[in-house]
Formats: sequence, C-alpha cells, structure tokens
Amino acid sequence: MNIEDYILSHSDPEPEYLAKVNRATHVKLINPRMCSGHLQGRVLSMFCHMISPKSVLELGTFTGYSALCMAEALTDNAVLHTIECDDELEDFIRQNFAGSEHGHKIKLHIGEALNVIESLSETFDLVFIDADKREYLAYYEAVLPKLRAGGFILADNTLWDGKVLKTVDANDKQTIEIMHFNDFIATDDRVEKVMLPLRDGLTLIRKK
Ligand SMILES: C[S@@+](CC[C@H](N)C(=O)[O-])C[C@H]1O[C@@H](n2cnc3c(N)ncnc32)[C@H](O)[C@@H]1O
Repeated sequence: MNIEDYILSHSDPEPEYLAKVNRATHVKLINPRMCSGHLQGRVLSMFCHMISPKSVLELGTFTGYSALCMAEALTDNAVLHTIECDDELEDFIRQNFAGSEHGHKIKLHIGEALNVIESLSETFDLVFIDADKREYLAYYEAVLPKLRAGGFILADNTLWDGKVLKTVDANDKQTIEIMHFNDFIATDDRVEKVMLPLRDGLTLIRKK
C-alpha cells in the first residue's frame, strides 16, 4: 500500500455518484487528470462543511466533479456558481449535475471566467480558482472585491507538478503565471494565506 492509498483508506470513501462522474471523465475526455478526484473532492466538501458558505463561485467546472463535492456540503438555500468556457462540455456537465441530489444547488455559466465574474452581482463566501493557469492573478483581482471580508479563496494547482521550483522555459506561460501568482499572494497583506501540499498544491487565502 502506498501513502496515498493509506490516506484514502482512512478518509471517507468516494460517494458512488462521484465515482461514476470520475469514471465517465476518464472514459470520455482526453485530460481526465484535471478532475479533482477522491482526496481533493473530500477536502473541498469538508471545507464547505467547515465554512458553511451561502454563496460559492468556482472558476473551471470541467466535468463538474469539484462543484458536486462542494454542493454536497451546501444547505438548500446556498448557491454555487461555476464557470466553464468549453461549451462542448455543457451537456456532460448538466448530465452529471442531474445525476446528483445536490445538482440543483449549482448554477452553470458557460463563458470566459473573467466576463462572467464581471456579470455576477453576488458577494461570495468562498471562491475556488481552477481555470486557466495563465489568468490566476486576473481572477484573483476580479473576485477579491466580490468576496466578503473573512471569506476564502482556494487556488488549485499552485505547485504545478513541482515546476515552480525548476528553471522555467520562457514559453511556459502557465508555470510563469502560477509562479507570479504565488509570489504575489505571498506578499499581499490584504489576505492571510497558507499553501498546502495537497495533490498539485492548494493555496488557502482568507480576505482580512
Ligand atoms: C482543471 S479543470 C477544472 C477541474 C474541476 N474544477 C475539478 O476539480 O473537477 C480547468 C477547467 O477550466 C476551464 N477553463 C480554462 N480557461 C477558462 C476560462 N478562461 N474561463 C472558464 N473556464 C476556463 C477548462 O476548459 C477546464 O475545463
């Protein structure tokens, strides 16, 4: 047994409906690793139980796995807005939401994250940033004014497969922008922050 199997065997199992989404994502899509998966999914669900947000925003829906994990922990009067730019995923996402008793808490927006954020008038308690790595800092600045004081931002993939520690190719815009985002957050005194070595790196940010 490796350490990840040990961790999973001492955490809640993946609910059956999410295992189905995970399997379907692996069968139908070319980049299934983008799906949060069992461990990160349970962490997102636990954070939502801890924070009890009434309004959540997710950037980057993909097949809906992480949105469903967070929705699971929301009360019926809470809403999760999730934004995905790939309209070819829409039917698959809606099918996955329809297959969950928590799907009705999720509002899917198909469009570019920065445009959709601008159109939303809500104040959010929690934002999960998981879309285009080259736009992380722009997402952060766009969502921070819409986050209540004391609210949280979770930024995924902030270790970017360990590439943040290596010499970066000038063409590797994703790594460059993740590093830029990480350096910016580290010194931004509008927020408290801690980076967790969970999966591909998850930075927890709290607005002061
Ligand atoms: C890492 S995946 C999201 C995974 C999902 N949050 C999960 O954990 O299961 C990133 C998604 O962001 C979408 N995306 C990329 N750029 C975007 C943008 N500018 N606006 C909205 N979505 C975007 C991609 O199409 C992709 O589906």
